[in-house]
Amino acid sequence: MRKWCLAMLVVVLLVSVSWAQAPVVFKSADNQPDGYPTVEAVKFLGKVVEEATKGKYKIQVYPGAQLGSEKETIEQALLGAIEMVRCSTLTLSGFYEPMGILSLPYLFRNYDHQWQAVLGAPGQELIDSMSKNLNLVALAWFEAGARSFYTIKAPIMKPEDVKGLKIRVPESPVLTNMVKFLGGAPVHLPFGEVYSALQTGVVDGAENNPPSYYAMKHFEVAKHYSLDEHTRIPELVIMSKSVWEKLSPEEKMIFKMAGQAASVYQRILWKQFEERSLKAVQEGGVKIYNPDKGPFQQAIKPFYDQYSKYKELIDKILAVK
Ligand code: GCU
Repeated sequence: MRKWCLAMLVVVLLVSVSWAQAPVVFKSADNQPDGYPTVEAVKFLGKVVEEATKGKYKIQVYPGAQLGSEKETIEQALLGAIEMVRCSTLTLSGFYEPMGILSLPYLFRNYDHQWQAVLGAPGQELIDSMSKNLNLVALAWFEAGARSFYTIKAPIMKPEDVKGLKIRVPESPVLTNMVKFLGGAPVHLPFGEVYSALQTGVVDGAENNPPSYYAMKHFEVAKHYSLDEHTRIPELVIMSKSVWEKLSPEEKMIFKMAGQAASVYQRILWKQFEERSLKAVQEGGVKIYNPDKGPFQQAIKPFYDQYSKYKELIDKILAVK
């Protein structure tokens, strides 16, 4: 009898030790290709977490929309079916409308103003209210530069040039209404379908930041890139709240700290990649234009009236120095 008990004790000990060592693997989705600054920064986040939790947690990044479109992966995170997503706040605005404020054209004066605002009270207010309303928590803010128009036939040099053009935009109410407001026809397409839509002439153009324009090879099929920089849209690394709540207080601190470190790292990668992307697209035959932003800013001004219910938060952002 004693031998049997001893054997059982050894088995239980072995199982508990091996079970304790088996890492918990979190899936993290991204629709950008491997090597893109957001993908590499979440890998870095995972390394920090793995090190700090002594291997208890690992983050497996799935780039290139392997787990689905941005919208689909956010839906999966809301259900707890995947643990993490890197997404644009423009896509999040389809699930939590106030996030759309961050897509408003010419809201941020520049990079410094944007980061003062998102890392300050306005950004915190937005992510806290998002977590109260959705099964999501935010781990990190990421940079996504400024979005500008690119077209097949001729450059967009003034707001009137948008008139009558079919412009692909993501499913963002703000960007959709902005193109409509300028007299264009917004066309909703998932990020992965933009290249073929440009190639086949289904659309006359699209708009995005230089790294996306380069990494998704849109520059091959739309060679007029007009840096009107109509909007700077911050991005987030989000985690399913049902996953977050299972973490211990110490583990939560580790994930938050890793998120802050990844945010700094992603901005460093972004600056390098943005310069490289602009150089590469010009080598690829793209003509870059720098239109006067004034007329675009004037044309878009009345557009803010549609967002008057968020005036308080918009004013807080505009007041950030
Ligand atoms: C940016 C952003 C993506 C988004 C894309 C789009 O590239 O990083 O997350 O899907 O814009 O226009 O769809």
